[in-house]
Amino acid sequence: MTTQATHQPAPPAELAARPVRFAIVGAGGMGATHAIGIKDDPNVEIAWMVDLDLPRAEQLAHKTGAKATSSMEDALADPAVDAVVIALPTSLHRNATEAAARAGKHVFCEKPIARNAEDGLAMVAACEQAGVTLMIGHVVRFFPEYQRIKEILDSGELGQIATVRALRTNPPVQERSPWFADVEKNGGVVLDLMVHDLDTLCWLLGGVERLFAQGLTYTEAQPRRDYAMASLRFRDGAIAHVESSWAHSTHRTSIEIAGQYGLIDFSSDNAASLTIERTVALSDKLDRPARVYSRPAVVSPQQRELRHFIDCLQSGEPVMIDGHAGVRAITLANSVLDSMRTGRPVFFNEDGSVAA
Ligand SMILES: NC(=O)c1ccc[n+]([C@@H]2O[C@H](COP(=O)([O-])OP(=O)(O)OC[C@H]3O[C@@H](n4cnc5c(N)ncnc54)[C@H](O)[C@@H]3O)[C@@H](O)[C@H]2O)c1
Repeated sequence: MTTQATHQPAPPAELAARPVRFAIVGAGGMGATHAIGIKDDPNVEIAWMVDLDLPRAEQLAHKTGAKATSSMEDALADPAVDAVVIALPTSLHRNATEAAARAGKHVFCEKPIARNAEDGLAMVAACEQAGVTLMIGHVVRFFPEYQRIKEILDSGELGQIATVRALRTNPPVQERSPWFADVEKNGGVVLDLMVHDLDTLCWLLGGVERLFAQGLTYTEAQPRRDYAMASLRFRDGAIAHVESSWAHSTHRTSIEIAGQYGLIDFSSDNAASLTIERTVALSDKLDRPARVYSRPAVVSPQQRELRHFIDCLQSGEPVMIDGHAGVRAITLANSVLDSMRTGRPVFFNEDGSVAA
């Protein structure tokens, strides 16, 4: 199906001369993070907050000066809107992106790009045909530490990379928003958390040759918890062990990279400059995790990724994480799920597709 845009996006020179006008679709966890993150940016105007749960949209609209609606169509019909941030449950990313492309709006879509590669490719095609930009929110690439790791690896300073260990934990997010736990529709912990590291490791190390994974997703072991681990071999010979968990009390990430001439080590625990530990009673009352690490002195990676998206719209330069990168990550994530289900390894062609 071809996507004819009903409205032509404004050229970069026009967007550089005035604020870029956004609709934020989904006013839950990530929609709120993005709305609060960009609301004071002088190059941005938030025109609409959209959520099926209208009071939720209204609450954020009140804080950001936007209009609120429960229907994405209202925001897409507004010719003043240049771009949308899609922060909806993953299974809704494709329809929302196709609708935005048809309306001639640029799209920043939260990770993962979609539930599967087929949906992701349809999103890429819709945006290409409509002549709008598509960026996927693989935010780990905007953490200063991971950007420094990328510079070090690219410089060759560490020589041949041998092994990588990557870890990412969260409290059981499905207890906050149950749609996360629907593996068939939304992919569970692998599409929520592991996809971050799968994208990051491809960015750092290149293509994957094969993987094998195990996890609790298809077992009865812990219905209210989830956990997955994957073992990957990259085309250049490096091997990686990637762990993702929804069974912890807090968000935590770490990565360790061993190369021919040295070792790189990062842990979010060490990076935090502020830790809040709440009593269980307060944590329950606020519906927030018991322990939270933060870095008030650092511009948040979520702000940095949207800043990059806006810079690209205003300059006409390509975005760092396009739809094809999103498809590569989701292909790997679905292969992790397949391996967990079948107990077999998955092999990949040089172009990143699954080998027959
Ligand atoms: N980059 C990150 O670190 C990160 C972190 C968490 C989530 N995410 C991604 O962000 C996306 C959203 O996750 P979340 O945590 O914000 O979820 P959430 O459940 O907190 O919010 C989703 C919101 O979408 C609304 N919604 C559902 N269907 C809708 C529809 N048809 N029209 C309008 N609104 C609708 C819900 O009412 C809810 O407010 C997911 O794809 C997730 O994978 C990314």
